[in-house]
Amino acid sequence: MVPKVTLYKVHWPFTFLMSQETLLNAFADEVKQGRIESIGVNNYSAEEIHQAHAILEKRGVILATNQVRYSLLFRQVEAKGIVDTARQLGVTILAYSSLAQGLLTGKYMVEKVPTGPRKFDPRFQKSGLEKIAPVLALLRQIGEKYGKTTAQVALNWLVV
Ligand SMILES: NC(=O)c1ccc[n+]([C@@H]2O[C@H](COP(=O)([O-])OP(=O)(O)OC[C@H]3O[C@@H](n4cnc5c(N)ncnc54)[C@H](OP(=O)(O)O)[C@@H]3O)[C@@H](O)[C@H]2O)c1
Repeated sequence: MVPKVTLYKVHWPFTFLMSQETLLNAFADEVKQGRIESIGVNNYSAEEIHQAHAILEKRGVILATNQVRYSLLFRQVEAKGIVDTARQLGVTILAYSSLAQGLLTGKYMVEKVPTGPRKFDPRFQKSGLEKIAPVLALLRQIGEKYGKTTAQVALNWLVV
């Protein structure tokens, strides 16, 4: 039996390297040959999702996923119509940085700023942590009510 990749994803829409037509048709060929089970993309805009979906549809292949940066603290994908477009076309949104690189775990706070490389990121500095303190307090409160951690509550928010 030929080994199959369950989900093969394009890491970024680098069209200067290769057109979407060329790339996604090559992926579709692999699906037809049975070496890839499903195709995903990462960091695609609403327009790019439409384009990718249309290219694959012509080949009778589904665009399964679009992985994007998405969390309670980073919701640009909603404002940019990426979530709605994906929903409309039946493309599953996969979230990366779903815990905002640890911010939504609640382990970093004004009294406990990180000591590692995160300390150079303004979001992890005192002012950044002050800004998100109300969000973390609410997540903690919900977590206490249901016996869940702050991280679990933040991840649950993403699951729709
Ligand atoms: N497709 C793309 O373009 C793309 C881009 C970026 C990232 N990614 C992928 O997304 C994944 C995660 O990225 P991310 O680091 O930004 O994700 P994240 O889930 O937002 O943050 C991960 C950090 O959260 C903390 N953490 C996770 N689970 C925890 C728990 N149960 N309790 C306490 N702390 C916890 C850890 O911090 P500590 O280190 O302090 O323990 C960990 O480093 C990676 O696999 C990466 O490859 C994909």
